[in-house]
Amino acid sequence: SRKPLWLDDRKGNPSNPKPLYPVLFSLVVPTYNEGSNIHAIVQRLSQLLDAALPNAYELIIVDDDSPDQTWEQAESLIAEYPNLRVMRRQHERGLSTAVIRGWQAAQGEILGVIDGDLQHPPEALMQLLAAMEQGADLAVASRHVDGGGVSSWSASRRFLSRGAQLLGLVLLPQVVSRVSDPMSGYFLVRRGAIAGEVLDPVGYKILIEVLGRGAIAEIAEVGYVFQEREAGESKVTWKQYFDYLQHLLRLRISSGRLGRLGRKLNFPVARFLKFGVVGLSGLAVDMTAFYLLFSVFSFGLTRSAIVAAELAIFNNFIWNDRWTFGDLSQQQPQKRLVIKRFLKFNIICTMGLILNVLLLNLFVNWLNVNPYVGKLMAIAVVTLWNFWINLKLSWRV
Ligand code: GDD
Ligand code: MN
Repeated sequence: SRKPLWLDDRKGNPSNPKPLYPVLFSLVVPTYNEGSNIHAIVQRLSQLLDAALPNAYELIIVDDDSPDQTWEQAESLIAEYPNLRVMRRQHERGLSTAVIRGWQAAQGEILGVIDGDLQHPPEALMQLLAAMEQGADLAVASRHVDGGGVSSWSASRRFLSRGAQLLGLVLLPQVVSRVSDPMSGYFLVRRGAIAGEVLDPVGYKILIEVLGRGAIAEIAEVGYVFQEREAGESKVTWKQYFDYLQHLLRLRISSGRLGRLGRKLNFPVARFLKFGVVGLSGLAVDMTAFYLLFSVFSFGLTRSAIVAAELAIFNNFIWNDRWTFGDLSQQQPQKRLVIKRFLKFNIICTMGLILNVLLLNLFVNWLNVNPYVGKLMAIAVVTLWNFWINLKLSWRV
């Protein structure tokens, strides 16, 4: 389930207490099954930072309850590395939210993130920190500037990576074109640039969220070579590509005119658009079923229409429950409630249908509107009705 996250909402504290010394820099290391890398990365980062910022930094491991017990290994390192803090998350998963949870617990004015598998060379931190010191709001380690690159990627992986970047440039040019490597998971950001914003990333690409929602004026880039993994394995699957697309679309909407209007009116624009898409799929189901029942199987007109409409309602319910309101459904996990939601949805949509006919009559017979324009107006009102009442009653926000 997804929830918007504020930086100043400090939940889920690391297992050990916050440091007593003033922290300037907080570096989050998200991990999932990195047991074979954890000691090495903590050692290398500590060595570097002990020299650069003695006792003014903290390392925050955010582990999602890894089956290989990375968190336990990390905790056992605290005795040796006092600037280390460990957060074990048992009720939430995902790279982006792990990073934000780490930042929420962080004390530093400069926040950072680095992979826990040593594919991001720790040495680049020195240049990133220097860039922040010189006034950058965001310092990104990039594979695509001088000194940057990938070690030995296959043509297909390069293609996928560049394809994803291109997609971002098309869908979200103002954001994605601001850095050469928008996919980077290795960067530092000034706390003040993102503290006031609600962060709501999907999946892997936290940098895009920071760029899209933060108040970032000055950006610096530092080249680095993406190392091969020596141990453990990558967690990237096809789902990450899908999440990425969804993330881009969501940022696109919220940064556009519609999104601004929605925020002003406190109306969930993205959710409503999803509801609309589901509604269109319902229209297709309705028409197809009606055709089959009426023309192919020769059922009566009314019976065909009712059965087809009910199938469409069923279709819409399934998609809305899993997608449009998926996060809300997951907050009420008992099976019986699904039936309850479905019955409410059904009743509300049926009332919507009646409303539709009434409005059509009102527009056409009383207000002399053109019947097709009237029909469109009725559909618009009923879609809003179905959305709003279902949001409030069936999925309860
Ligand atoms: N807490 C937590 N929860 N950590 C996670 C999760 C999760 O669900 N999924 C992955 N991680 C951690 C991994 O343990 C690793 O430390 C880091 O996040 C990156 O995951 P990898 O699976 O190793 O990703 P990658 O090597 O393919 O991708 C990296 O390079 C990209 C550049 O192409 C990441 O750094 C991306 O952020 C980066 O964009
Ligand atoms: Mn990796």
